Amino acid sequence: MKRTGGTDEQKRRAGESAADAVDDGTVVGLGTGSTAATAIRELGRRVDSGLDIRGIPTSYESRQAAREAGIPLVSLAEATPDIAIDGADQVAGFDLIKGGGAAHAREKLVDAAADRFLVVADGTKLAATLDAPVPIEVLPDAEPVVSADLETLGGSPTLRDAERKDGPVVTDNGNLVVDCEFGAIADPAALAADLAGIPGVVEHGLFVDLADEIHVGTETGVDVTER
Ligand code: A5P
Repeated sequence: MKRTGGTDEQKRRAGESAADAVDDGTVVGLGTGSTAATAIRELGRRVDSGLDIRGIPTSYESRQAAREAGIPLVSLAEATPDIAIDGADQVAGFDLIKGGGAAHAREKLVDAAADRFLVVADGTKLAATLDAPVPIEVLPDAEPVVSADLETLGGSPTLRDAERKDGPVVTDNGNLVVDCEFGAIADPAALAADLAGIPGVVEHGLFVDLADEIHVGTETGVDVTER
């Protein structure tokens, strides 16, 4: 798992706070990344104590974490999530940039399908305006033309390289990831619409207006913002 900012304690507080919101008998979307993993582990402890839930994983990584935690799994084809708990790479209000772990396509599918989407993060993720590079999953053959279209939109795209593998990152869906710098994103909804309109883009990492609650782990507790 990649290393991101914030302390393990801050992440754990955020994850446990979100796990607290999960009711008995529900279906839970299980996000990807180190903060969502703390929620998965906490839900596993609660399952051990009798909590009856089923999880829908958003990645190979979260499926493994859920299996290790003993959470029964179900697919999105079989059940709709009542609630989803997922991390973020940057948070501005209720808008997010996700995809640092290249899982944003399945994450968006599951998070958007949930009745309630809870974001778990540490304070290093908070920003006044989204300005981090936007991860964009693209069909492998489409990468050169998508990158050219991103430049036309004013972006600076970089194909994401793998670590401990020659060549690019390949997603759980068999696609590539381009990280695109746009500077400060004044209108995330407009940029999201532009990105979604590029042929060959499978999914982009702008999550606009999808989140219902933001749980931020701090040095001493958790700050929760609800819509
Ligand atoms: C995965 O692709 C991302 O969307 C993650 O949710 C994000 O990278 C958060 O990871 P951390 O909780 O480890 O910072």
